[in-house]
Amino acid sequence: MHPDQLAKNIWRVHTRIGTHDLFEGIWPLPEGVLINAYVVKGSRKTALIDFVCDWENGESDLTGQMEEIGVKVADVDYVVINHMEPDHTGALVDFRKKNKTAQIYCTKKAEPLVHHFLRVTDNIHVIEDGEELDLGDRTLVFYETPNIHWPETMMTFERESGILFSCDAFGSFGLFDHTFEDELSEDERELYRQEGERYYSNIVSTFSTFVQKGLAKLAPLPITMVAPSHGVLWRKDIERLFSWYGKLARYMNGPAEEEITLVWSSMYGNTESLLESVKAGVASEGVKLHIFRVPQTHASFILEYAWRSSGLIFGMPTYEYKMFPPMYHVLDILERSRVNKRKVMRFGSFGWSGGAQKQFDQFVETLKWDCVGTVEFQGAPTEEDQKKAFEYAAELARQVKAEVRT
Ligand SMILES: Cc1cc2nc3c(=O)[nH]c(=O)nc-3n(C[C@H](O)[C@H](O)[C@H](O)COP(=O)(O)O)c2cc1C
Ligand SMILES: [Fe+2]
Ligand SMILES: [Fe+2]
Repeated sequence: MHPDQLAKNIWRVHTRIGTHDLFEGIWPLPEGVLINAYVVKGSRKTALIDFVCDWENGESDLTGQMEEIGVKVADVDYVVINHMEPDHTGALVDFRKKNKTAQIYCTKKAEPLVHHFLRVTDNIHVIEDGEELDLGDRTLVFYETPNIHWPETMMTFERESGILFSCDAFGSFGLFDHTFEDELSEDERELYRQEGERYYSNIVSTFSTFVQKGLAKLAPLPITMVAPSHGVLWRKDIERLFSWYGKLARYMNGPAEEEITLVWSSMYGNTESLLESVKAGVASEGVKLHIFRVPQTHASFILEYAWRSSGLIFGMPTYEYKMFPPMYHVLDILERSRVNKRKVMRFGSFGWSGGAQKQFDQFVETLKWDCVGTVEFQGAPTEEDQKKAFEYAAELARQVKAEVRT
């Protein structure tokens, strides 16, 4: 790993996280993830923007790369903490042991987190929104962007180069050998789109209202490059990046894409036996369908597709007077992520008195979903149940089309 020069005296230094880890201890990383930090060397002072974690020798990677560009740990005058989450600050504890004088720049809300996570209480400077830091021929400007992703988050803009250091915003999962989005091949770009949307839905979606506020606040800046803390950087078509991100944020309250995500589970095949009718119902209206079985599929991937879908279909039986537990987990994740205002339907089997539907109804209410109907049956489904499943699925698909097209 080597540093990438972004402009005169501005570099990215980064860590590659392997594919066997879980991000935040929950989200799979089949394609790995990048953690980017940045060095800005002004004519008088040097700043390190964001950090990396102590995952997989993060710190040694960082200092090694810094040495390649002639910056020693002791040369750093300022450490800018855009966001206190440990993926960006973990290695700071060790860094601080070697450099006690570097001033930490962070927001007011970050200060107590610096105390508690890093056990550091001195040399902390709390920024004002819009405050500037003069490094000589480079100027950093700090903008509070709360809740993208934690409450204490800010972004840093380097005025002379026009680079926005956006931290988690515009981030993505995935390891990429190229630095910039415009260098990706068609296949890599598709992987980046997918991993970017999975990152957004898994990590940021809950805060979509704040994302929209943040985008509105930053849009007037003369941005020439967006340098997030995960994934690739953008130096072309910044408008396309903002419009993609704005679209992802607006999915929160629907309508999203003209697509339906079907999530199903079945212990003994009774619920499963309605699957073909449901699929045929959606297909009869020509709406794109994504199908996932739980618990076989991790909720991370289901959330990615649920986030972009205007319609959701759930198939699950009753289990111990409640919903089949892995499906409850998926619905809980959708609730936390605010997959609001979708068109939905449910189908599922029960043995004697049911219970899954009651729990499902609570999610429908909380997430303001519009349920076209439920096909719930005792034991095995009848011909009538099969017909109803087809009809409800077709009706759901019609409603999705109508909603997206108006
Ligand atoms: C461990 C277990 C717990 C169950 N708990 C309930 C229950 O509380 N209420 C109920 O009506 N049926 C219950 N059932 C019955 C299932 O809902 C029923 O067998 C259903 O047909 C399963 O659908 P499937 O074939 O799609 O898995 C339970 C079944 C199992 C195996
Ligand atoms: Fe974060
Ligand atoms: Fe992060």
